[in-house]
Amino acid sequence: MGLSSRHLLGLEETSAEDITTILDTAISFREILERPIKKVPTLRGLTVLNLFYEASTRTRISFELAEKRLSADVVNFSSSTSSVTKGESLKDTVRTIEAMKIDMVVVRHGSPGAPHLLTRTLESNIINAGDGAHEHPTQGLLDMFTLRQKYGSLKGLRVVLVGDTKHSRVARSNIWGLKTMGASVAICSPSTLLPYAAEQFGVDVYTNLDEALDGADVVNILRIQLERQQSGMFPSQREYVNLFGINTDRLKRLNKNYTIMHPGPMNRGVEITSEVADSESSVILEQVTNGQAVRMAVLYLLSGKKMETDSKE
Ligand code: CP
Repeated sequence: MGLSSRHLLGLEETSAEDITTILDTAISFREILERPIKKVPTLRGLTVLNLFYEASTRTRISFELAEKRLSADVVNFSSSTSSVTKGESLKDTVRTIEAMKIDMVVVRHGSPGAPHLLTRTLESNIINAGDGAHEHPTQGLLDMFTLRQKYGSLKGLRVVLVGDTKHSRVARSNIWGLKTMGASVAICSPSTLLPYAAEQFGVDVYTNLDEALDGADVVNILRIQLERQQSGMFPSQREYVNLFGINTDRLKRLNKNYTIMHPGPMNRGVEITSEVADSESSVILEQVTNGQAVRMAVLYLLSGKKMETDSKE
């Protein structure tokens, strides 16, 4: 068992077979997370570099825990405390670290395509942990794993992505992955926060939230990415909350057994109320737990190692 590529760069180019392999494999790793000793020897002898040029809580910690629970050696790089501050380029930085003998690189970078550049520079397996507004494939995979856990299959599920779909790499990875797996996808944003030529993604496009939510099974709520946008994309936060904020009243339009998702970090009181975020239909913390299992599966499948699932002391 393995994947058809030695890197995970995005879900746009990932086949249904590879997505299914990752999601099926993650089931075994999810079970390991429930054990008293959450550690297996699968990646013993391999060294993984977590190369983060952008802030992260969930993805960085989740990858680090996934690597440690697979018994890999782990090196963490943060650009703000490195020689990047003295002007060292991405290429020189990664070639320097690879010269210390590393096997896999997990990279987050503000520039779309940075992980693709690394595949041409390094021998290591490259995993994209978020590149600008382009893709965040492990977030898309963990979202699909969480939905498959609840509904059994993604086929025919109606998923609406609400919020800043223009600047969201989570939106892009969800769109590609869900469509590949047979879900029906819609996006809903103010017109200024829709991607250019949004229809070309093969999704239903809405600027009216109530219409978008009608008959949906899943709402995946996205943060307004103030760090990636110019000012003036909407008149005021108050107006955004009124027109696009998800509150309990709006959920009446959804199908029974609906699901609330958010990739985090959340701005409570802006794109989502606390009542919705903490409701029974919210799977936000399950997404976080499942993220570790999915990342363990990706690391394992790209490593080419044999599955070892006996816990180690
Ligand atoms: N969902 C997500 O990517 O969160 P972080 O930015 O905290 O990693």
